[in-house]
Amino acid sequence: MRRLSPKASRVLYPLAAAAASIAGVHPIAARRLLIGAAVVLAAPAIWRGALAQGRLQPTPSQTEGPFYPVELPDDIDGDLLVLGGRPYGKGRAAWLEGTVSDTDGRALSGAAVEIWQCDPDGHYHHPGDGGRADPGFQGFGRVTVGSDGAYRFRTLRPAPYSGRTPHIHLKVKLGARELLTTQVYVQGDPGNQRDFLWRRLRAEERAALTVPFEPAGDTMRARFAIVVRA
Ligand SMILES: [Fe+2]
Repeated sequence: MRRLSPKASRVLYPLAAAAASIAGVHPIAARRLLIGAAVVLAAPAIWRGALAQGRLQPTPSQTEGPFYPVELPDDIDGDLLVLGGRPYGKGRAAWLEGTVSDTDGRALSGAAVEIWQCDPDGHYHHPGDGGRADPGFQGFGRVTVGSDGAYRFRTLRPAPYSGRTPHIHLKVKLGARELLTTQVYVQGDPGNQRDFLWRRLRAEERAALTVPFEPAGDTMRARFAIVVRA
């Protein structure tokens, strides 16, 4: 363990003992915490600044909703517009892409990103939605994040359905751990202001989860950055 000067010890050790008695923490553990804090405080100001700037806000979570697939289809790749080799022609095609990182900005290599969404008529592949979803639309996709942290889906600009503004459901998993469940919204969609879940978000949460779907040639493109506590 790093040695402290006699002067620092005279200040920190009584503090550690007091903190330990208040918090019920073992005195040695409390002393280590305080020494760690002292080391950070003693670091150059520029380094402390870099540490502070390195902390990214985690992407806000939202409810999973009732339509996460009960059974996954055979085809669950990142191209939701080709199912079993057959292209899907309805709706408005869009890329949804971005990076997955931890709160220090490190790529989360090996993480799985899943998305699921309704078909252009507003139906999910789920028994709770009456089995009405278009069998030609994949509706669910999963990709694995590489060492650069990037993920990419080819899907539809989401469509509205009864009571909900357009959105894409999204999960991030690392092995068996679920790190994030949330929903991605379309910037400027008039339905957002009427959506009970979107309205519940604070301004900074809306900004994090609501992204532009911009024209890109004959398709659209949306960038959604994902930050998780890993
Ligand atoms: Fe939904």
